[in-house]
Amino acid sequence: MKRNNHNNKNSTKVSRINVCEWPYDDLVKKHFLHPKNFLVDEKKYKADGMGIVGSPACGDMMIVWIKINKKLQKIKDCKWRTFGCASAIASTSIMSVMVTEKGGMELHDSLHLKPEQIVDRLGGLPDRKFHCSVLGQEALRNAINDYLDHAKNSK
Ligand code: FES
Repeated sequence: MKRNNHNNKNSTKVSRINVCEWPYDDLVKKHFLHPKNFLVDEKKYKADGMGIVGSPACGDMMIVWIKINKKLQKIKDCKWRTFGCASAIASTSIMSVMVTEKGGMELHDSLHLKPEQIVDRLGGLPDRKFHCSVLGQEALRNAINDYLDHAKNSK
C-alpha cells in the first residue's frame, strides 16, 4: 500500500528551522558570497607552486596555486579552489588576501602562517568549523614547499 506522509496524521512532525539565519560574522559572509582569488580554470595560470589537501571523494578538498616574486622571496599572487564548506571558502579567501597584500608576504612567514591568524582576521569561526580554516593553510604550505622543491632541483 502506498502511503502519503503529508496526509498521515501519525507522521512525525519536523520542527521548522530558520534557514535564513546566518551564524557567522558578516566578514565570513562577505568572503563566502564574494570570494577573492578563486580560480575556476587553472589551465592558463602559470603557477610557481601548487598544493593540494583533502580528497574530492569526501568533499573537503583544497587546491592552492601561488606565484612568487623570486627576487624578494615573497608571494605575489595566490589563487585557490575548494569543494569545502562556507567556512573553508571564507577562510581561504581571506588567507589569499593576507599573503598577497602590501606587496606580498615573505615565504618564511607564509610557511608559518597559523590557522588562528586566519580565523582572527575573519572575525572568528565556530569551534566546530576551525578545521575548515586549516585546509587553506595546509594547501598553501604544500604550494610553497612545491615551489621550494622545484627551485632547489633546478639549481
Ligand atoms: Fe568540511 Fe568545512 S571544509 S566542514
